[in-house]
Amino acid sequence: MLNVFKKAPTTSVARIDPLEIEIRVERGDRLLSSALGQGVEWPHRCKVGSCGTCKAILLSGDIKPQLNFGYVLTPEEIEEGYILACQSTLKSDIHVLIKPRSKKRKGKR
Ligand code: FES
Repeated sequence: MLNVFKKAPTTSVARIDPLEIEIRVERGDRLLSSALGQGVEWPHRCKVGSCGTCKAILLSGDIKPQLNFGYVLTPEEIEEGYILACQSTLKSDIHVLIKPRSKKRKGKR
């Protein structure tokens, strides 16, 4: 069978660690908004690419930046693979590492 006419998948999977969660992201949707919509507690503030709170390390896969990450992230962070989730759409399945919110403080009651 010819694959020439096969359509590209309309959703991609994002594996989010250390939360060990996988979510589906529709083509064209932003990673952060998809994650929040599926109940993931992803750190964020502005949602427009100006605060940097939603940054994550892209471990594998391909994203499409919706703005120049260099406005917010340092050259070193970009070199290390950081992305802004609120300004990223997915070009493939991806694997990212975030710094989760700390809900509980150890040793405090
Ligand atoms: S939430 Fe502020 S840069 Fe993404």
